Amino acid sequence: MTTKEINIAYQEYKSVDELNPEDRELAAEAIKAMEGAYAPYSHFHVGAAVRMSNGQIVRGANQENAAFPSGLCAERTAMFAASARYPDKDMLSIAIAGGVMGRLGHEPATPCGACRQVMAQYQAKSGKPMSILMVAADQILKFEKVDDILPLIFKSI
Ligand code: THU
Repeated sequence: MTTKEINIAYQEYKSVDELNPEDRELAAEAIKAMEGAYAPYSHFHVGAAVRMSNGQIVRGANQENAAFPSGLCAERTAMFAASARYPDKDMLSIAIAGGVMGRLGHEPATPCGACRQVMAQYQAKSGKPMSILMVAADQILKFEKVDDILPLIFKSI
C-alpha cells in the first residue's frame, strides 16, 4: 500500500484589479450575469460567464423552480447556452460570482459537483484546459483547469 497526495495549485487575488484584462472582463461579466438570477427560494443569486474560442462571452444565472431539482445552477445555464449557441467553439474559461439577494459575497461561490462534471465534459470535448475564476468582493480564486477542482475526474466514455 502506498499513500499518495494530490496537490492543487491555484492563484488567489485580493481584487479584480489584480487580474489580467481578459479575466477582469470575464469576472465583470459574471457579476453582471447575477442580475439574471431567478432565486425566489434561496435568494442566493449566482452569475456565470463563459469565454468562447471565438471571443464571445455567454452569460448564465441560476434558475430555481418550485420542484427543486428542476432548477439549474448558473454555471450549467451558461455552459449549456454557450454550447447551444456556439456548438463548434471551445469553452476556454468560466467565471462565477454569487451572493445573497444579488449582493456580491465576500467569499467565492464555489461550483457544485454536477457543474464541475459538466465543465469536465466540455473541457474534454475541446481538448484544451478550461480555467475557472471564482469571484467574490475581496477574494478571487483562479484554477487553470477543471482537473484542479475535480481530481480523479470521470472521463472514461
Ligand atoms: N448555485 C449556483 O447557481 N451555482 C453555484 O456554484 C452554487 C449554487 C445556485 C443553486 C441555487 O439556485 C442557489 O445557488 C442556492 O444553492
